[in-house]
Amino acid sequence: MPPLSAGDRIALLTSGGDAPGMNAALRGAARVSVTLGLQVLGVEEGYVGLLEGRIRPLDVHEVDDAARRGGTVLGSARSKVFPTTEGQRKAREALAAHDVRALVVIGGNGSLAGARTLADVVAVAGLPASIDNDLAATSMSIGVDTALNTIVEACDRIGDTASAHRRTFLIEVMGRDCGYLAMTAAVASGDDAVLVPEADRSEDDLVEGVARAMESAYGRDSDKRRVLVVKAEGVKTDAPTLKRRVDARVAKSLPDVETRVTVLGHVVRGGSPTAFDRLLGSRLANCAIRALAEGEQGFMAGWCGPGVTGAPCKYDPYVVLTPLDTVLAETARLMSGESEVARWRRRIVHEIEPILAR
Ligand code: F6P
Repeated sequence: MPPLSAGDRIALLTSGGDAPGMNAALRGAARVSVTLGLQVLGVEEGYVGLLEGRIRPLDVHEVDDAARRGGTVLGSARSKVFPTTEGQRKAREALAAHDVRALVVIGGNGSLAGARTLADVVAVAGLPASIDNDLAATSMSIGVDTALNTIVEACDRIGDTASAHRRTFLIEVMGRDCGYLAMTAAVASGDDAVLVPEADRSEDDLVEGVARAMESAYGRDSDKRRVLVVKAEGVKTDAPTLKRRVDARVAKSLPDVETRVTVLGHVVRGGSPTAFDRLLGSRLANCAIRALAEGEQGFMAGWCGPGVTGAPCKYDPYVVLTPLDTVLAETARLMSGESEVARWRRRIVHEIEPILAR
């Protein structure tokens, strides 16, 4: 695509599950765009709003204020119609009607796949945003750090009450099919066990693992008064079932120990973004807008680290621009367990389990 010129229109869209830091990314994108002389538009409620033509001028001051808050000021949605022929036609018509030259999509895997389908009509760029950290070509997605901090704080609080009553808590955290949040939270808050889909354990093995962690923690040589087990939502046995089976398994060995379940749910997705997430959103947005302005397109701006193989972009030594096709293919490999990062995540689970359980 030719470089963008002053006055050209760039549209920003947030899509899929919201992630803290999306607003900071919007602010970064809007401010850099305006500085480069571009006109900034906001698409309301993701692809749902796009195909309904809900596109409006985005005021920089509106996003300035929102950058300190979670959620997304543009709204977000998951559209079933957008991937259909009719949805695609309407989305293209709306982009043409508003004379949009470039589109920045801020979201997860499905949202970036949606962006790729429009690459023949506008210059598209993606910013990875999902608390799940299940995207390839970026070591961190926008929202992960905030979600992790929220979980760690929750575990610390639960730990206080657990110790008071000498209880075991099973704490379920979001993450879809990815155990990243559960794994990192368990290490950061010093929990006793972690259950993640990457370990691929049978239900019997999960029950046995939790029971052993409890028996070792409350055993004669230990003065521990609490056991915290973090369970990723991607582990298919639900937390109440697990509790029931663990209770039955330790009924004789630990007759006085009670277990409780806390499902953190959407608490993990909200809240004010951490400084890291605000910076991540701002820096990725800065690079994406500058690259689009210079005529690059069809890429995602990712944060350097494991599995991010490209060279840093010229705007920021921590940011790598990867073609969307590569991002989507590598994400599929990450989630099917084939990529290098997936193999490392699987290995580290087995290494960390005995360390946590001591
Ligand atoms: O992808 C982000 C995420 O929060 C996942 O962790 C979770 O499985 C899902 O979205 C929940 O989606 P919804 O808010 O639509 O129930």
